[in-house]
Amino acid sequence: MSEEGRLVAGQLRRDDRENIALRPKSLHSMIGQDNLRERLSIIIEAARLRQEPIDHILFHGPPGLGKTSLAHVIANEMGATVRTTAGPSIERAGDLAAILTHLKKGDILFIDEVHRLGKAVGEILYPAMEDFVLDIVIGKGPAAKTVRLNLPRFTVIGATTELALIAGPLRDRFGENFHLDYYTPEAMQIIITRAAGMLNIEIEAAGAAEIARRSRGTPRIGLRLLRRVRDFAQTRADGIITQPVADEALKLMNIDYLGLDEIDRRILRTIIQKFNGGPVGVETISAATSEDSTTISSVYEPYLIQTGFLKLTKQGRVAMPAAYDHLGIAQNNNAVPPVQKELF
Ligand SMILES: Nc1ncnc2c1ncn2[C@@H]1O[C@H](COP(=O)(O)OP(=O)(O)OP(=O)(O)O)[C@@H](O)[C@H]1O
Ligand SMILES: [Mg+2]
Repeated sequence: MSEEGRLVAGQLRRDDRENIALRPKSLHSMIGQDNLRERLSIIIEAARLRQEPIDHILFHGPPGLGKTSLAHVIANEMGATVRTTAGPSIERAGDLAAILTHLKKGDILFIDEVHRLGKAVGEILYPAMEDFVLDIVIGKGPAAKTVRLNLPRFTVIGATTELALIAGPLRDRFGENFHLDYYTPEAMQIIITRAAGMLNIEIEAAGAAEIARRSRGTPRIGLRLLRRVRDFAQTRADGIITQPVADEALKLMNIDYLGLDEIDRRILRTIIQKFNGGPVGVETISAATSEDSTTISSVYEPYLIQTGFLKLTKQGRVAMPAAYDHLGIAQNNNAVPPVQKELF
């Protein structure tokens, strides 16, 4: 469930509450994503000058990089109200019609997991986004008639981890389309240091750098690791996160020096040892590792591809030489497992 979903359900955990508090509030206070921030600031400034709501915007990229945060940043910058919903929670066209008719001029409708919107819902959404109208059918059979309602000018911000699953017509209706990249270790270090400051955690620069390096360039992961390292520092050290404390805590969590966890390594090891390095399909990897195939393709693979451990080909996934090296497996003799290399 999304953070907002849990908030509505009233069961927000402490970590989630902290995450929301840690969200950047303005484009200026946001670290990293420089190109995106520059392009976005132009769109926002121009809309403000014209005193118009901004165009519809689509954010895509792996989980935890800041898509939801950006929707709220835009709302703050525009002084707009955000209404949040998600693809899977709009089941029928009527659900969306109800949401649309409650929007006011300039409101932002944030649709998370926008790739999961149903087809019937899309048919209502397209004209609403393009012409700000809503066609409602009243009655049934020969007596049925269509009534057209005008909607106020509003902005849709869509977020997705699966750009390829978004229907073409929907994609075309977004005026701008932003890809979020993994953050650099330097940007991650600043994010972690700032978060530590806000959470009153004592951290040394080398401690923050160690967590940053092992956070897969993902703020959500970095913040989670920061909390777990804090727990370790408070119970097994003197409360201060130094480099050795961070290193020891992360080792204990089985997070290696590149930030790969047990599941990343299992995926790579499976491709190498069970399928001779690939190519192998994601469903087959899923069956062999007991991990959900969508989770593999949207959460694990993007980082493994980015680090050069995995390649996507038409025939399937292929383990790259760097993966063999990292796991300490000899490339031409997969059958004999060599001595495990020091991964931490
Ligand atoms: N640029 C950033 N600077 C500082 N903190 C950030 C930044 N981006 C994200 N975060 C933090 O990381 C957490 C995850 O961000 P967010 O929820 O916006 O990601 P997301 O892309 O929407 O993820 P998902 O796809 O899983 O919904 C947030 O709680 C926020 O505190
Ligand atoms: Mg989100």
